[in-house]
Amino acid sequence: MSEQYDLVQAVRKVVEDRRSIRQYTEEPVSEEALEMILEAGRLAPSGENAQPWRFIVVKDPETRKKMGAIAGGGSGRRFTAEFVTQKMQERFASLEDEAKRKAAFEKLTSGQVSAFLAEAPVNIVVCGRKDVWDLPYDTSAAIENMLLMVTALGLGACWVIAPCIDIRDEERLKDLLGVPEGLKVVSIIAVGHPARYPRPRPRIPLHELVYREKWGVPYYEPKEEGK
Ligand SMILES: Cc1cc2nc3c(=O)[nH]c(=O)nc-3n(C[C@H](O)[C@H](O)[C@H](O)COP(=O)(O)O)c2cc1C
Repeated sequence: MSEQYDLVQAVRKVVEDRRSIRQYTEEPVSEEALEMILEAGRLAPSGENAQPWRFIVVKDPETRKKMGAIAGGGSGRRFTAEFVTQKMQERFASLEDEAKRKAAFEKLTSGQVSAFLAEAPVNIVVCGRKDVWDLPYDTSAAIENMLLMVTALGLGACWVIAPCIDIRDEERLKDLLGVPEGLKVVSIIAVGHPARYPRPRPRIPLHELVYREKWGVPYYEPKEEGK
């Protein structure tokens, strides 16, 4: 009973403590830790147990720099598109301080967001077999497993999709890393020792997410403040 309870508490803590870490110290990630992270990915579930994921571990600073530049460009274009289609303005509507809003828009469209992955001592490039129908789901399961293991190890990571959204960026990555035809570059996980542990990003409460039997009837009552 108590062993089970300890396990539940441990899992809960890992899930709660996971954050997207975007600043790292220079301390390298040990081979033992790296293998545990990759092993967590390997053990993820996949449709029909297809295991379509393949991983490339990149530590070389020059390669990381190039990947960081591709990621920065990808983020810049995505957020510029969000800006011109007014989606970004909608997203930041509750931010009343005009100067802060302007600064956020400038940062997001700068082409620098996501470039941080070059600063992480390890980039795990997650690739996958294109012929497997469930590829996006399967690789997402593997990535989340890895992020949780990263957290349990006291390391920090960020799931970065920015360099893989635009097919032209993905082609650049494939050239850089020699990824063969038939495989897709799905995401990059930047891993390192956290230089900063950010506050949790807000989450939608359960009472707004879960319905009872049919869509529309909340399963939970709103919780009182502080509970
Ligand atoms: C599918 C996916 C793609 C993401 N891509 C990026 C990315 O390209 N760049 C980045 O800085 N963060 C990226 N993130 C991290 C999210 O911004 C982050 O998970 C979210 O803001 C919640 O913050 P948290 O992870 O600290 O809880 C991505 C996360 C997911 C799940």
